[in-house]
Amino acid sequence: MGLEVPPRDAAVFGPVSIPRTRLLSVILHYAKLDGEDRAHRFNARVTLPALLRRYSSPEGRSSTFFGFMSQGAIVALAELNAMAANGETELAISVLAPWQNRGLGEAVLRTAIGRVCHDDGRDLVLHVNAQNKRMVRLVTRLGATRDGDQTDGRYIFPRT
Ligand SMILES: CC(C)(COP(=O)(O)OP(=O)(O)OC[C@H]1O[C@@H](n2cnc3c(N)ncnc32)[C@H](O)[C@@H]1OP(=O)(O)O)[C@@H](O)C(=O)NCCC(=O)NCCS
Repeated sequence: MGLEVPPRDAAVFGPVSIPRTRLLSVILHYAKLDGEDRAHRFNARVTLPALLRRYSSPEGRSSTFFGFMSQGAIVALAELNAMAANGETELAISVLAPWQNRGLGEAVLRTAIGRVCHDDGRDLVLHVNAQNKRMVRLVTRLGATRDGDQTDGRYIFPRT
């Protein structure tokens, strides 16, 4: 499995849980994002060695994942982190460039809202930089409320 991206007309299926045994597929997904998309995803420029360090560290090991797959590759991904202290679960999502603008981002976010806010009874929180217009549109369209300062928007879907 390399850095090739499945063609946009290939079959896609999901959402599926992505176990920690598939962590390499997660890292490859992040490596396949465009530079700007990866910077938006992590709110920072992140290199491949930094990704490898992050997901082998104790902090990286607390994440859980689900996503949409095509030809064995993750084309859309949700990374969830349940924060023990405050009953919140943090979410970050990403979709490979050729697979964007066909509803996968919205499907990932809707699935996360169902699992976290309804099934787990926890608040779902996303940190979205104001420059990330596409993601701001997506969370706003699905009804998130916003707090935080001008640049680091904190968007919340409350538990139901
Ligand atoms: C933000 C991001 C997740 C959106 O993913 P996506 O799969 O493109 O999202 P969607 O397809 O659901 O929606 C995107 C747009 O496509 C449109 N769209 C959805 N289905 C469509 C279809 N079948 N035909 C045409 N347009 C469509 C949506 O209306 C939306 O339009 P808008 O941007 O004008 O509001 C993606 O751009 C990404 O991975 N960005 C980099 C990482 C990132 O910023 N992550 C956020 C950190 S929390």
